[in-house]
Amino acid sequence: MSKDTLSIRHNRTGREVEYPLLKGTLGKETVDIRSLYKDLDCFSYDPGFMVTASCRSNITFIDGEAGVLLYRGYPIEQLAENCDFMEVAYLLMYGELPNRSELDIFVQEIGKRSILDESLRVFFEGFHYDAHPMAMLVGVVGSLSAFYHSELNMKDPEHRRICAMRLIGKMPTIAAASYRHSVGKPFVFPRLDLNYCENFLNMMFSRSSPNYIDPNHYIDPEAVKALNLSLILHADHEQGASTSTVRLAASTGANPYACIAAGIAALWGPAHGGANEAVLNMLATIGTVDRIPEFIAKAKDKKDPFRLLGFGHRVYKNHDPRARIIRQTCHDLLNSGKNADPLFDLALALEEYALQDEYFIERKLYPNVDFYSGIIYKALNIPVEMFTVMFAIARTAGWVSHWLEMMDEPNIPIGRPRQLYSGPDKREFLSIDER
Ligand code: SDX
Repeated sequence: MSKDTLSIRHNRTGREVEYPLLKGTLGKETVDIRSLYKDLDCFSYDPGFMVTASCRSNITFIDGEAGVLLYRGYPIEQLAENCDFMEVAYLLMYGELPNRSELDIFVQEIGKRSILDESLRVFFEGFHYDAHPMAMLVGVVGSLSAFYHSELNMKDPEHRRICAMRLIGKMPTIAAASYRHSVGKPFVFPRLDLNYCENFLNMMFSRSSPNYIDPNHYIDPEAVKALNLSLILHADHEQGASTSTVRLAASTGANPYACIAAGIAALWGPAHGGANEAVLNMLATIGTVDRIPEFIAKAKDKKDPFRLLGFGHRVYKNHDPRARIIRQTCHDLLNSGKNADPLFDLALALEEYALQDEYFIERKLYPNVDFYSGIIYKALNIPVEMFTVMFAIARTAGWVSHWLEMMDEPNIPIGRPRQLYSGPDKREFLSIDER
């Protein structure tokens, strides 16, 4: 009997079938059970897809036990140390790091596609000023499908590439416009003389109106460095909930802008990308170090729905490598004296307390990337409601890369999970007078 198979035996019928064990470049062996229903007339049950590989991908690899994260084979630590976010976006999309001329062309094309159509700017007027920026992002990105649909030929790789570039280019502009709308300030257009992160900060915070240039307005290089790092760390992460949502929507052949809007919606939840905003709100609720034990107890109490936000991960059962990297940047940014923030001291005290608690140790619950990213965004004066928007800007590079990878496949099966039905058995209808 070949070793590279898994035998599944139906003990009631005695039927036994061997299934091939697929081996990727790295990672766990994966049993191919696509013919399970045909062979043994049964489904597999895996709520939340905890042990289910939904696709084959060459983009990102995570080893949750070892705390490893690779983008196209490169360790996240090396990319974080040496790259600009545009280099990483290129790497995720095309599979290789760009040389200088490739990067220059990529950056120029992204810059060209960063402007919004005038009628899209009007779209924002439909939002009340206090609309959550994530609600605006979902709506405006989804509305891009109204601008780019009829002429979009999804069978044409160049059309698909341009769509990906548009999304990476426009996301920061839409994000900054959402913020400016929420504070009643005029939109600031993207500039071609600024890099991706400088541009975003300028569109967010520039006080320059058409005929006023603020002589003191400058873009803090430390802020640009911290933002660049955070975007790199959040750029992709295998088949997380939002990326799986993009893939599932795209499997029906839906308009890609609508698919990315679906990914943004999935990212918003506090169990996923919404955690960074929720972490800051949690820290503000805890307030002081002496209240930490009270909240740790709440997090451990199964009767209490409260969880320690920013801790734990579906895949990492070791330290999230991104959290390790971003923790240092928090230190650097806050130790620079410009952004002292008591919430950071509280965050460090909470981390220390949790990491010594048996409940968290036993369950391998470590701080994830979202535990610290909010601290950085707060230090950059980005409002808490914008934190998940920041995550979406970064993850757009990952989402479009997965979309491109999927659309390059010859036959894309429509995603259609089955279920374990536990509702009523078949029964006869009763008229209303008989009920
Ligand atoms: C992101 O998928 C991705 O890759 C996501 C992401 C990305 O880059 O796309 O990495 C970004 O979403 C990071 C995660 C951000 N979310 C949070 O910080 C919210 C707080 N974390 C939890 O909601 C939770 O840890 C999840 C949702 C992240 C993971 O949930 P799981 O898979 O159910 O956690 P688990 O199976 O490891 O839980 C094991 C035990 C359970 O208790 P027992 O039943 O064993 O008694 O740990 C408990 C859980 O109840 N637990 C927690 C906890 N997380 C898990 N208890 C208290 N506080 C927590 N945060």
